[in-house]
Amino acid sequence: MLKVAVLISGGGSNLEALLEAAADPAFPARIVCVGSDTEAPGLAHAEAAGVPAFIIRPGDYDSREEWGQVLAAAIQEHGVGTGPEPGLVVSAGLMRILPPGFVREFSPHLINTHPALLPLYPGAHAVRDALAAGAAVTGVTVHVIDEGVDTGPTLRQATVEVRPGETEAELHERIKRLERPLLVQTVREIALGELDLAAAEAP
Ligand code: GRF
Repeated sequence: MLKVAVLISGGGSNLEALLEAAADPAFPARIVCVGSDTEAPGLAHAEAAGVPAFIIRPGDYDSREEWGQVLAAAIQEHGVGTGPEPGLVVSAGLMRILPPGFVREFSPHLINTHPALLPLYPGAHAVRDALAAGAAVTGVTVHVIDEGVDTGPTLRQATVEVRPGETEAELHERIKRLERPLLVQTVREIALGELDLAAAEAP
């Protein structure tokens, strides 16, 4: 059974989808903890599911690296990244760049979901950037996290056609409708050994 730690900053609808999937005993992964960098509304989903949650604020530490060390230790306390089974860390709407020390600690068992077809539109405003560029098609990418910003090997992608005149919020919502099942399916494939994170290649 794959042990999964989920990191969030916002509403946590991707987290909610993972928790719902993992509530089925047939799902091959368990969400063992949820971490956040802030008082994220999505932490309520962890509480509702009875999954331990913690907030570790970067502002409480002298450096991003130190924040990353404390975050890593909190995750490892729940059995992810320790012992013979590596487990998996899922960044699902964490709006922070994980520092290099943290990435090295868990790599390659560390994935992110991003609302664009990487390598297009990396960074915090992917949906806005796709609209500003006049993209006809955008989508979502689930990828392995490396030390860059949204640069790691792509695992799965799904595409969404941009509708004329739609707002950033409307497009993001339509992307998220695909993103949630794609993330759940990717975690399932990792848990079943159908996706080999170590063998994933850079885009
Ligand atoms: C997702 O679209 C994720 O890719 C992006 O932020 C959004 C988080 O949504 N980085 P939620 O908090 O899971 O609802």
